[in-house]
Amino acid sequence: MSDNLATLNDGTKAITMGVKSGTIGPDVIDIRKLYAETGKFTYDPGFTSTASCDSALTYIDGDEGVLLHRGYPIGQLAEQSSFMEVCYLMLNGELPSADELSQFSRTITRHTMVHEQLSVFYRGFRRDAHPMAIMCGVVGALSAFYHDSTDISDPEQRKISAHRLIAKMPTIAAMAFKYSVGQPFVYPRNDLSYTGNFLRMTFAVPAEEYEVNPVVERALDRIFILHADHEQNASTSTVRLAGSSGANPFACIAAGIACLWGPAHGGANEAALNMLKEIGTPDRIPHYIARAKDKNDPFRLMGFGHRVYKNYDPRATVMQKTVREVFESLKVTDPLFETALRLEELALSDPYFIDKKLFPNVDFYSGIILSAIGFPTTMFTALFALARTVGWVAQWNEMISDPGQKIGRPRQLYTGPVQRDYVPVSER
Ligand code: CMC
Repeated sequence: MSDNLATLNDGTKAITMGVKSGTIGPDVIDIRKLYAETGKFTYDPGFTSTASCDSALTYIDGDEGVLLHRGYPIGQLAEQSSFMEVCYLMLNGELPSADELSQFSRTITRHTMVHEQLSVFYRGFRRDAHPMAIMCGVVGALSAFYHDSTDISDPEQRKISAHRLIAKMPTIAAMAFKYSVGQPFVYPRNDLSYTGNFLRMTFAVPAEEYEVNPVVERALDRIFILHADHEQNASTSTVRLAGSSGANPFACIAAGIACLWGPAHGGANEAALNMLKEIGTPDRIPHYIARAKDKNDPFRLMGFGHRVYKNYDPRATVMQKTVREVFESLKVTDPLFETALRLEELALSDPYFIDKKLFPNVDFYSGIILSAIGFPTTMFTALFALARTVGWVAQWNEMISDPGQKIGRPRQLYTGPVQRDYVPVSER
């Protein structure tokens, strides 16, 4: 491979391909002409070696445990900024000035209400419906209400749809929770912060005043920051793929929500907490570690391992610290936190986890905090979806703005029957 060319020999001839460099991270070999020149495809199930796009949003170095949004380390953003600031950064590329931030926050606040007719949708669901099932349906339905922001060729409409999605997601998620517990929906209030407003819409009841606990508000805001974007993960790639056909943003985000629901992705925080509950006490940990290592047992340590991080997930570090802050403020203790700390300690000293570079990921501790705040486990993934919406819309917008954008259309290695003639049913 030369500086900017790579040569591939497919067994019949050598083909030269360009090599593209980003600002940081591995170079990529541009294989777009490969099929035209060789008649062969590349084969990469799970996209472990394939870059699907250019992106200037998020950078991850999984070996070093680095996560940058627009160049800023996640630890600094989580400690020093707010979720609103991170949303602005993701959408606009730069941190906002004080004026830009207050203008942006006002814009988001003014979009938090949902069309009143949308609340009727909720009654169509069973009370015990999973919030993610409701989110998929209701977010998809937004495109039936906001026709004035579905023209994807108009940058202004794209901006409005992005603001609407970020603003309405807390309202939609809180309504899903209220519906499941049989309480009335709580309307948003414009004098509260984005996160404070969400807490109130979730936990307030008309019978009494609700006061937002600033430590809880800060912790949840930080959790939102930690989940804001994560490069070309499964749900983001789903949003991009759905959007590549020209589908409207509300439909694309609904597709992302559906993908996020899976236990290997956003559903892992729910699964991690359920696992910690099942383990119960630290003396039972060795049994579960043995199960996780057993090739014949499908059990995995939930909240452990990551496709990209082969080091401590930087988000897990912030999350662990946040658990302690929330516990101190709420004056609660949770034996599951002790179990989690011990499980982490034992797993990280076990050669199986060391050799496979399996470390706690963001989901290992998030469930413990969310549970202490009062969220039922079924809401965990809905909170993830709420926070990830900014990443999804920013990635979607980046794709639509790219003049070289094409419909996503992977190829395949066909392994089915070769052509054969139809046999009438009477002769089979
Ligand atoms: N417990 C036990 N063994 C594991 C685990 C685990 N949590 N994760 C991976 N392994 C083993 C796996 O069995 C495999 O072993 P071998 O090479 O002997 O076959 C090896 O490690 C590599 O695993 P993989 O499944 O090929 O790796 P992957 O990159 O495809 O999977 C993952 C990544 C996140 C799906 C996986 O680590 C996992 O299932 N973890 C548990 C679920 C979880 O916590 N997901 C949250 C991800 S972070 C939030 C997000 O970004 O959505």
